[in-house]
Amino acid sequence: MQLPVNSKNLSLMASIFPFLAAAAHGSPDALNHTIKWTNCSTALTPRLECGTIGVPVDWQNPHGPYTTLGLQRVKALNTTARIGPLFFNPGGPGGVATQFITGVAEGVPVFSQELQEHFDLIGVDPRGVGTSTPVKCDPEIANRQQTLFPKSEEEWDNLLENNRAFAESCFNLTGPLFAHMDTTSVARDLEAVRVALGSEKLNWLGLSYGSQIGVAYAELFPTHIRAMALDGNMDHSAAETYNVVTESSSYEVVFTHFAEWCSNSSDCALQGQDVLRIFDDLVLQADSVPIPAPYCEVNGGCRPNVTGEDLRFNVQGMLGFTEPNELSGDPGWPGLGIALNETLHGNATLLSSVLATIEVQDIEFAGRAVECLDWTHSTKSYSELLYKQELLKTISPHTQGATQTWQIQTGCLGWPFPIQNLPHYAHVVGAPPILMINSFYDPETSIVWANALLAQLPSAVMAVRDGDGHTSYLLMGESSKATDDYLVNLTLPVPGTIYKT
Ligand SMILES: *[C@@H]1O[C@H](CO)[C@@H](O)[C@H](O)[C@H]1NC(C)=O
Ligand SMILES: *[C@@H]1O[C@H](CO)[C@@H](O)[C@H](O)[C@H]1NC(C)=O
Ligand SMILES: *[C@@H]1O[C@H](CO)[C@@H](O)[C@H](O)[C@H]1NC(C)=O
Ligand SMILES: *[C@@H]1O[C@H](CO)[C@@H](O)[C@H](O)[C@H]1NC(C)=O
Ligand SMILES: *[C@@H]1O[C@H](CO)[C@@H](O)[C@H](O)[C@H]1NC(C)=O
Ligand SMILES: *[C@@H]1O[C@H](CO)[C@@H](O)[C@H](O)[C@H]1NC(C)=O
Ligand SMILES: *[C@@H]1O[C@H](CO)[C@@H](O)[C@H](O)[C@H]1NC(C)=O
Ligand SMILES: *[C@@H]1O[C@H](CO)[C@@H](O)[C@H](O)[C@H]1NC(C)=O
Ligand SMILES: *[C@@H]1O[C@H](CO)[C@@H](O)[C@H](O)[C@H]1NC(C)=O
Repeated sequence: MQLPVNSKNLSLMASIFPFLAAAAHGSPDALNHTIKWTNCSTALTPRLECGTIGVPVDWQNPHGPYTTLGLQRVKALNTTARIGPLFFNPGGPGGVATQFITGVAEGVPVFSQELQEHFDLIGVDPRGVGTSTPVKCDPEIANRQQTLFPKSEEEWDNLLENNRAFAESCFNLTGPLFAHMDTTSVARDLEAVRVALGSEKLNWLGLSYGSQIGVAYAELFPTHIRAMALDGNMDHSAAETYNVVTESSSYEVVFTHFAEWCSNSSDCALQGQDVLRIFDDLVLQADSVPIPAPYCEVNGGCRPNVTGEDLRFNVQGMLGFTEPNELSGDPGWPGLGIALNETLHGNATLLSSVLATIEVQDIEFAGRAVECLDWTHSTKSYSELLYKQELLKTISPHTQGATQTWQIQTGCLGWPFPIQNLPHYAHVVGAPPILMINSFYDPETSIVWANALLAQLPSAVMAVRDGDGHTSYLLMGESSKATDDYLVNLTLPVPGTIYKT
């Protein structure tokens, strides 16, 4: 879901791309969908352009209040070979697209040389995120220690009450935008930007949750697309139990792959040990007495005590890259080995949960707003939720369902704003061929979701990367080359192609 579906990855990403936190201010005539450009280039980023555009908070009321989107552009290196604009989204929800464009302007090879030559690379921060007018929430309410696996009626009641209070604080601080953060609105915003940039056809590269934005756009504006590449796919059609079982079992499988690798590899700090058992023991131990995270105690920004539930949630985001990835700053599976070893020795800092320090947190606040408006969260009672917890333990005995989907299904219970983009089969008519890439073993966006989405998109072709990890483009392997070839030349792989990298 984030280049993550996972919040940890994206916050790591945020940390490697220092970005312009330019406040985005619009004006009423920006509703005319014109982009206001500012000169944001510096000695470090000579090619960077920054813009803002106003869009209606509620697309049903196009002349009502507006909100401002922030975007960045780096123009194609070869003007003769230029194809058009390529819009990128890193996932989340809540991922900041402009950071990646700033990265390109600084010379970080986020995209291949070919893409840089042929396309104007565009990052539009989705409404409420990054350089767009932000969603704001009360950090104090967000940081209340709240189990998402309630074990009593009282904990269930507290969960619903905290969720409600959190959402109310966001609405109070953000205004009506908070109730209109759904992906359909994001897709309409994207169309406004495309038109404002000159109405050239859309080229899209969406990672993780970026696939959901892409599909929402394809439903609304199928004929405005030239090319659409979806990497790490989400299926927005299905029932809650299917969603959480799918993500939980995919996470569990990848975690067992990690454990086997770790036991046998000199690159892992727990080599020669029974990693699954160590993990299970740590979870039990930390659920009874939380493990300290001394760095967090001194520096803030993360929880000073780490519970078993924290461990189960936070490992997921560390499975996304098998090897350290320079582009995302992800330490890879060796990093997870170190984190577990340090936790075993009483320092759980690397597996502690993020604490909100200010009112603006892209993943935790804006991302949550999207989640609660896009997915149902209809568990009716404590006993029903308890039944689901037992189900997930059976399906995924080590990680026990501690996934982003579970965060949505529990963290949105009691949400006081109605869903805006109900799960539904994608209805895409008249789009050109769409390329889908998924790894076989993705700890977040399961290949099962990819297969289900493939069945919904008549013009889609899917190719698979035979490996572990969340999304593939940033690995710059064979599947990334195939993505480039498709985006540049519209050449599609033979359906069912399996890449090694
Ligand atoms: C939009 O803005 C442009 C440039 O400011 C102006 O020429 C045009 O008339 C405006 N269109 C509408 C519909 O307001
Ligand atoms: C933008 O600002 C940079 C650095 O301040 C300057 O070198 C450059 O000439 C400016 N570009 C334009 C188009 O004004
Ligand atoms: C730019 O693209 C044109 C057309 O594809 C090509 O002929 C030319 O060699 C390219 N220039 C550079 C510097 O790569
Ligand atoms: C939100 O604002 C309302 C109206 O001012 C107030 O009654 C309520 O306490 C506020 N809620 C939170 C969580 O800030
Ligand atoms: C890897 O380690 C596990 C557990 O320590 C062991 O059972 C397994 O045989 C090892 N696999 C390989 C390929 O060495
Ligand atoms: C595991 O962690 C301990 C405590 O930090 C450290 O002394 C030890 O060297 C680590 N082991 C490996 C293999 O990194
Ligand atoms: C959690 O951390 C706080 C602050 O560091 C500490 O005072 C407290 O005793 C810890 N609680 C538990 C249950 O470990
Ligand atoms: C705990 O681990 C963190 C992260 O590796 C490290 O920065 C910190 O120094 C460690 N703290 C102690 C007291 O060992
Ligand atoms: C696009 O096709 C041309 C001609 O076949 C080829 O040379 C080029 O490498 C392709 N571009 C990409 C990005 O694969």
